Amino acid sequence: MKKLGIYIHIPFCTKKCGYCDFYSVKWNEIQENTYIQAAINEIKSYSALTKKFTVDSIYIGGGTPSIINSQHLDNIINTVKSIFTVEKDCEISMEANPNSITENIEAYGEIGINRLSIGIQSLNDNILKKIGRIHNSAEASEAIDRAKSFGFENINADVMFNIPGQTIDDINNTINQLIKKDIKHISFYSLKLEKGTPMYILEKNKEIIMPEEDYERGMYYSGRDIMEKHNLMQYEISNFAMKGYECRHNLKYWNQEEYIGIGPSAHSFLGNMRFSNPSDLTEYILGGEDEIFERNILEFMDSKDLIFEYIMLRLRLIEGLKLKDFKNKFSIDFKEEYASQIDYLTKNCLVESDDETIRLTKRGMDISNYVFEQF
Ligand SMILES: C[S@@+](CC[C@H](N)C(=O)[O-])C[C@H]1O[C@@H](n2cnc3c(N)ncnc32)[C@H](O)[C@@H]1O
Ligand code: SF4
Repeated sequence: MKKLGIYIHIPFCTKKCGYCDFYSVKWNEIQENTYIQAAINEIKSYSALTKKFTVDSIYIGGGTPSIINSQHLDNIINTVKSIFTVEKDCEISMEANPNSITENIEAYGEIGINRLSIGIQSLNDNILKKIGRIHNSAEASEAIDRAKSFGFENINADVMFNIPGQTIDDINNTINQLIKKDIKHISFYSLKLEKGTPMYILEKNKEIIMPEEDYERGMYYSGRDIMEKHNLMQYEISNFAMKGYECRHNLKYWNQEEYIGIGPSAHSFLGNMRFSNPSDLTEYILGGEDEIFERNILEFMDSKDLIFEYIMLRLRLIEGLKLKDFKNKFSIDFKEEYASQIDYLTKNCLVESDDETIRLTKRGMDISNYVFEQF
C-alpha cells in the first residue's frame, strides 16, 4: 500500500498578524462548529482512497488550530481513523500559537498529537509588537515550557528573520534561548512581504524599511551557524532539526509524495494532479452541507512537469537529489540528461555532486531559484 499524508487546515485566528497571508478569518464559535462538520464530511468524501493508501502523517495547520475546542480536534482525528488505516507510528503534528497553549494541552496528547509546531517568531518584545503578534516573549517561552511539562518533546519553533529593526544579535539571542530549552526543530523563515498584508502596505508607504539584502543574509548565516553548532542540523533551506526529528509531513512535500488537504485553501497532490479547495470559508461550508466539494484543478502534471518539480523540491533538501532514486522514478540517468547544466552549475560553485548525489552548495542555496531555472 502507498503512504498518504493528510493536511487539515483550521482557518481561524484570534487576530491577523501584519505579515501573514495564510487563509484565516477571525475566530467565532458558531463558524467553528459548522466548519468542523464540513471538514469531517470532506474527510469522509475521500473514503475511496482507503484501499490504496495508509496514512503515515497528519498535519493540522492554519490559521491557528490551538484556538479551537480540543473535542473538535479529537473528532477530526477520529474521523480520519474511522476512514483510513492510520499507521501506528503516524506523525500527528499541530500548529499552535503560544498564548493558546493553556491547560488544554493535556488533551492534545490524549487525542494522539505527538508533534507541536509553536509560532514563536522572536523572543524580542519590540519585534513581536512590530509584526502584530498577540503574545510577548515571556509567554512564548512559557508556552514551550508548558508543552514540555505535559510530555511533548517533539516541538518545533517557527522563527522569523529579516524583520524591519531586527538585528543579528536579536536572532542569535532568540535561537540561543530556544537551544537552551532543548528545542528539537526550528523552522527559520525570512520575512516575505506578501501583497496586500498590512506590512506590505507600510513598506510601500515607506513607513517601514526592510533590512538590506546583505544584512538579511547575515541574519540567516548567523542563525544557521548557531543551530548547526548545537546539532540542529539543516535538512532543508529553512528547516533545522536534531537527528530523527525532521518533520515527516514536510518531507512528503519535498519528496513529491501524495497528500490530501482538507479545508478552505488546502492543496492536494494525488497521482499526477494538483488541486485545491476554494479559499473561502462560507463557500467551503456550503459545499460541506451538500457533501459536494468544489475543487480547483491546478494542474495535471505531465512527466516533464513532474521531473522539473522533483528536481526543484529535492535540491531544496540538504541531502540533495539521489541519482538512483531519480533513475527509479523517471527511468532517466540524471547526469547524462543534464550534463551541460551540471557542468555549468559546478563550475560556478552552485552545485556539488558525486556518484550518488547532486546537491546545492551553500552559495547555491542563496540563489536557489536561479539554479532551478537552469533545468
Ligand atoms: C500558519 S503559521 C503558524 C501557526 C500559528 N498560526 C502562529 O502563527 O503561531 C505558519 C508560519 O509561517 C511563517 N510565516 C507566515 N507568513 C510569513 C511571511 N510572510 N514570511 C515569512 N514567514 C511567514 C510564520 O513563522 C508562521 O509561524
Ligand atoms: S501567522 Fe499564524 S496567527 Fe498570525 S495570522 Fe498567520 S496563521 Fe494567524
